Amino acid sequence: MRFVFDPHSSPVPAEDRAERILDPGFGRVFTDHMAILRWSDAKGWHDGRIRAREPLTLDPATAVLHYAQEIFEGLKAYRLDDGGTALFRADANARRFRDSARRLAMPELPEELFAQSIEALVKADADWFPAIEGGSLYLRPFMIASEVFLGVKPAGEYLYMVIASAAGSYWKGGARAISLWVSHDYTRAGPGGTGAAKCGGNYATSLVAQSEAIRRGCDQAVFLDAVEHRWIEELGGMNIFFVFDDGGIQTPPLTGTILPGITRDSILTLARDEGLSVREELYSIDQWRADAASGRLVESFACGTAAVVTPIGKVTGPDYEFTIGSGATGQTTARFLSALTAIQHGRAPDPRGWLKRLS
Ligand SMILES: Cc1ncc(COP(=O)(O)O)c(C=O)c1O
Repeated sequence: MRFVFDPHSSPVPAEDRAERILDPGFGRVFTDHMAILRWSDAKGWHDGRIRAREPLTLDPATAVLHYAQEIFEGLKAYRLDDGGTALFRADANARRFRDSARRLAMPELPEELFAQSIEALVKADADWFPAIEGGSLYLRPFMIASEVFLGVKPAGEYLYMVIASAAGSYWKGGARAISLWVSHDYTRAGPGGTGAAKCGGNYATSLVAQSEAIRRGCDQAVFLDAVEHRWIEELGGMNIFFVFDDGGIQTPPLTGTILPGITRDSILTLARDEGLSVREELYSIDQWRADAASGRLVESFACGTAAVVTPIGKVTGPDYEFTIGSGATGQTTARFLSALTAIQHGRAPDPRGWLKRLS
C-alpha cells in the first residue's frame, strides 16, 4: 500500500510562507499537507493519503475524546549543511510507535508505513524548511481511537496522521542552563503503568507539576519514582543525565516508567564510543544534592528531540536548592550537544547510518 498524493488546491502563497517561516518558534507554524491513514477491524490499514491539512470533524462520542486512547511521536527532518534534507533515526521512532501502540491496545503500524508517511509528507512540504541556522521540520505522527462508541474497550477504528511544523533553532541566543523543580508531590508514571509509552495521558498528568515548577520560578519539573519518591526519573518531555568528576556519566535505567528516548540512546552510544564510563543506574535526589555539594557531580543535562541537549544549572525542591557546577553549560554537555548536532546536520561522520538522506 502507498500514500496517494492529493495536492492542496490552495497552498499558502510563497510570500506568506516565507514570512511565516522566518522566525517560526516551535509548534505553531504548520505546513500545507498532512498524512492520514485509517485502520478498522474489518479492513486493517487502508486509505493512506497525503492531502490538504484541515480540521478534523469528530463525533462527540469518538472514543479518544473520552478514554484518551492516543499515542504520538516527535521527530525532526533536518536541513543539512550541503542544502539537502535528512531524517535522524526515524526507524527508532517507528519502533517506539509500535511499542506505544501495543501498550495502549492499539493496532501496530508497520514500520514501513510509518517511514512512507513521514517521507512523503516531507517531500510534499519541502518548501517549508526554515532557511535559518538550525531550522528543521518537526514531525508529529499520532494515532487516535476514532470509533464512535462509549463502551470502555479497545476501539475498533483508528486514525493515524502526521502533521509537520516549521521549527526554529532551539538554541537561538545560545544554550541556556535551565532550572528544575523537583516534584515531590506528583508522580508521572508508576510500575506497570504507561511511563515508557508515548501516550497523551502521560503528558496530561505531568502538567500540574509543570505549572507548579513555573510558579516556583523554575523552567521544568523533574519527576521522582512513584514508589519510594526518591529516585530521579525524567522531565515532562526529556531524559536526564549526570556527569561526574571522573568523566563518567549516568542516567536512570529503562525500568518501564520513563520514556526510552532516542536522544538518550544516541548519547549513551556516543559516550561508549568515546570510552567514557557509562552507567544506567538509579540515582536518588539525596545523592544528587550531596554530590553537587561535594563537587563529585560536575554537570547535569536534559536531552530530547526538541532541545537536543540542555544544561541544568539549578535544582529546587520544597526546602532545598542547589547549583550544579558553575550553574552554566559544562564541557561534557557542550561536547554532546555539538557531537549530536554535527551528525544531524551532516557535518560529522555517521558510522551507524543514523541519518537518512531525503534530498
Ligand atoms: C517524557 C519524555 N521523555 C524523554 C523524551 C526524549 O525522547 P527523544 O530523545 O526520543 O525525543 C521525550 C520526548 O520525546 C519525552 O516526551
